[in-house]
Amino acid sequence: MKRVLTFLFAAGMMVSAASLMFTSCTKEGPQGPAGADGQDGQDANATCTQCHNFSDMIVAKIFQYDASQHATGSTTARNSTDCAPCHSSQGYIECIETGEWVTAEAIQNPAPINCRTCHMIHESYTATDWDLRWVASFTNALGEVTDMTTNGGDATGNLCARCHQSRLAEPVITDPTSTTSTLQPTSYRYGPHHGPQSPMLAGTGGYDINGSDALTNSFHTGRTSCVDCHGAEAAGATSGGHTLWANLTGCNTPVCHDGAVTSFDYEGKQTIIEEGLIILEHKLALAGVVDTVAHPGYLNTSIAHTQKMLAIFYNYKFIEEDRSMGVHNFKRANGMIEDGIAYLESLGY
Ligand code: HEC
Ligand code: HEC
Ligand code: HEC
Ligand code: HEC
Ligand code: HEC
Repeated sequence: MKRVLTFLFAAGMMVSAASLMFTSCTKEGPQGPAGADGQDGQDANATCTQCHNFSDMIVAKIFQYDASQHATGSTTARNSTDCAPCHSSQGYIECIETGEWVTAEAIQNPAPINCRTCHMIHESYTATDWDLRWVASFTNALGEVTDMTTNGGDATGNLCARCHQSRLAEPVITDPTSTTSTLQPTSYRYGPHHGPQSPMLAGTGGYDINGSDALTNSFHTGRTSCVDCHGAEAAGATSGGHTLWANLTGCNTPVCHDGAVTSFDYEGKQTIIEEGLIILEHKLALAGVVDTVAHPGYLNTSIAHTQKMLAIFYNYKFIEEDRSMGVHNFKRANGMIEDGIAYLESLGY
């Protein structure tokens, strides 16, 4: 109903904009406030109706968007300067303009991620406002270059990656191979935070604990973009399209798996990651790295850890928080799990 009212309002605005031209010479009212600058030489009716018309196109996208986590999630309340860049529409847009990863102030009246967060809605009031707000590569919050197109993938992934990236975990690991140098984080929430999907897919996040550069990436890296899988053909509002819920249609396009994928646990790869993570967590707990008492599953901050051990813990959190269980980058996730388990076994755990 809310949406219907919005459209009635939009339609009403256009009608009243048109009718103003006729009524102004017959009826004199008090002067209204100055309007926003219009687009010189453009007929508002002509440009507005490129989008606001009787087609169901916007209606269908809104229908899908309303079922997305961006629309339904509760984290828009995280509006402080360090959370708002990813958890509010205004914060995201401000940080694109300033190039910072924090907003100047806490965001008042935070809006959820919506059409105008990702598109340039109502910037020029023409159809070019469908352009995406961000598609270029960029330097992420860890100071690394992020580019989701390295093997020829499309650039829309960079839009998502500005939010779906890791946060800086402190103190920073400088040598993930070191078994002598130690670090002692103060926060039990140590790790990459939620949503490190872009560094997982791009193959840049997490640590190579053997320093052998033996970690390899899946075929998906740099060739598939977030919306290839999360924005495939819409199935009503249940998956695909602007719901951004991945579906099998995305996997099975002719240029990709062409019908071979019948479940996300393709070739049992998700099961391998899930089982590997359980074993890794168990061994990290035996080694006293994963807390089992005060904050189970988080870092034990009561002792210092070697950089190598902390890197294994970080990798464990990185894979867990990515949440695709290997779909984004099976080879890298599995390599990090195997290396971590092998090292812990070499210590007798
Ligand atoms: C690029 C396509 C596009 C153009 C051009 C466009 N709009 Fe919109 N408009 C949108 C979208 C998308 C929404 C948001 C729908 C939502 O979030 O519910 C919207 C929402 C609105 C709303 C509801 C209030 C709001 O801001 O959410 C009004 C009123 C409106 N538009 C008026 C106009 C007018 C008047 C023009 C021309 C001067 C215009 N629009 C041009 C796409 C467009
Ligand atoms: C402005 C930052 C931002 C952008 C841009 C963004 N996301 Fe998100 N995304 C979030 C946040 C924050 C959440 C969690 C929302 C909540 O639960 O309140 C989320 C949730 C999600 C979820 C659901 C995760 C869950 O909780 O189950 C998916 C899937 C997703 N985003 C995919 C995408 C894709 C694909 C793109 C690019 C087309 C994208 N996102 C762009 C910030 C962003
Ligand atoms: C999380 C980011 C995100 C949000 C929120 C979002 N979109 Fe999109 N939208 C995209 C991406 C990415 C594409 C694909 C663009 C491409 O493939 O070039 C797209 C494509 C579109 C297209 C096709 C544009 C074209 O050029 O043909 C329309 C129409 C559209 N979106 C409307 C909407 C509307 C309406 C809303 C709000 C209800 C919305 N979008 C919200 C990211 C978003
Ligand atoms: C760089 C972008 C970014 C920043 C900054 C950020 N978040 Fe998030 N956050 C995300 C994304 C993306 C998700 C959704 C990830 C997912 O569902 O996999 C998320 C999810 C969450 C969730 C939901 C977790 C869940 O399991 O449902 C909470 C709570 C949260 N963030 C809190 C915060 C707080 C508090 C801050 C500030 C201290 C913050 N975030 C800063 C990107 C960010
Ligand atoms: C190759 C296809 C593919 C690509 C590319 C991809 N994803 Fe996923 N992603 C998936 C699948 C499939 C799942 C769901 C796994 C499951 O539910 O078991 C998933 C899970 C997720 C989740 C956890 C919530 C959920 O939907 O289960 C988030 C958040 C997410 N992806 C965001 C992203 C972002 C952001 C990008 C781009 C940086 C991206 N994904 C790229 C296929 C993909």
